[in-house]
Amino acid sequence: QDGDAAAGEKEFRKCKACHMIQSPSGEDIVKGGKTGPNLFGVVGRPAGSEEGFKYSEALIALKDAGEVWTPEDLAAYMTDPNKFVQEKTGDSSARTKMTFKLNKNQADIAAFLATAGQ
Ligand code: HEM
Repeated sequence: QDGDAAAGEKEFRKCKACHMIQSPSGEDIVKGGKTGPNLFGVVGRPAGSEEGFKYSEALIALKDAGEVWTPEDLAAYMTDPNKFVQEKTGDSSARTKMTFKLNKNQADIAAFLATAGQ
């Protein structure tokens, strides 16, 4: 379903502890932490592909399964990262390093991410 990017920009405060959005030229779209990968241009980007970030085996398996982030898949991932990766890879023991789960407004954040870095 369609999300509201302006609402999602505000909701993204829940993600900032661990994620920044920074352009390749170093412009901060959202200042944030480095526990998680930079989410600049994540829509349309293969999963687990930020250069230099140390992903879990689960995210590497997701990348190897051919996952390319869409707004729908981002919304499902942030709802339950382990469940999403387990379903996509068929490995019920897969565990991601992202322990955070979001139970509302996922589509809004996905819509915001789609505007950040295209
Ligand atoms: C990975 C989104 C909150 C830590 C990711 C990825 C996405 C994402 C899309 C995969 C990126 C890629 O494939 O390159 C979000 C969103 C959040 C959120 C939208 C808020 C709703 C958080 C929080 C933390 C966190 C609060 C830390 C407590 C991580 C880590 C990874 C990750 C460590 C790497 C996962 C792995 O290698 O298994 N996140 N995240 N995230 N995120 Fe988040």
